[in-house]
Amino acid sequence: MSGAARGRVHVHADARAAAAAVAEELASLAAQAVEARGRFSLALAGGSTPRALYRLLAEEPHRSRVPWHGVHLFWGDERCVPPGHPRSNFRMVREALVSRVPLPEENVHRVRGELSADLAADDYAHELRAFFGGEPRFDVVHLGLGDDGHTASLFPFSPALRVRGRPAARALQPGTGEPRVTLTVPALNGARRVDFLVTGAGKARVVGRVVRGALDPFRLPAQLVRPRDGELHWHLDVPAAAGLDPSGG
Ligand code: 6PG
Repeated sequence: MSGAARGRVHVHADARAAAAAVAEELASLAAQAVEARGRFSLALAGGSTPRALYRLLAEEPHRSRVPWHGVHLFWGDERCVPPGHPRSNFRMVREALVSRVPLPEENVHRVRGELSADLAADDYAHELRAFFGGEPRFDVVHLGLGDDGHTASLFPFSPALRVRGRPAARALQPGTGEPRVTLTVPALNGARRVDFLVTGAGKARVVGRVVRGALDPFRLPAQLVRPRDGELHWHLDVPAAAGLDPSGG
């Protein structure tokens, strides 16, 4: 697959600059989408990297630029824990963003992690199909990258990688066996735009393998993310981008 199909790479000085650039981009895309289509659908990543981004969206200048009444938040994945649990991705986003902006409650489409993984996945799939009137077409899906090449909760060699015909599926975190719900590959690839935000020297090797290395998508599930009719962008800081330089310089 050509480099272009692997997405457009944006390298920023450091993690804060990368988060600031993505915040600016999301605020602008939200305003354009609400103007054009009356709403902006955004699927968010969990984990630690995007917290700074979410906080920036809740602060000026972005807070007053975003048409929050038209923004609809979804999650790329969720741990099957109650919404107030420290491991909940919903809780992280509520603390960093939702509790700090005038977002209508009905615009928050969380995964009901308090249910079993199968029930939560079915419930989320129903909500996605109701919102999109069919299979999802997110305006933006925001993703992170695990150092094993996973994204959302699409883990290497997992059954969730092969799920077709539904937008959400159960998953299990390797090692811990923690039950999860994840957007499926077709749901991710239906997006108008997918943004990866990856920072830190610890991710350099996996970034190089995913973006420049041999295609091995079941070992590196992030390689399965290729929007069918949309854009793919990688926002990296300099340390994470070091893996893209063959000389490692
Ligand atoms: C999750 C995330 C997961 C995350 C990566 C990177 O629920 O943990 O959705 O896919 O994006 O594991 O996590 P960090 O940003 O913490 O490195």
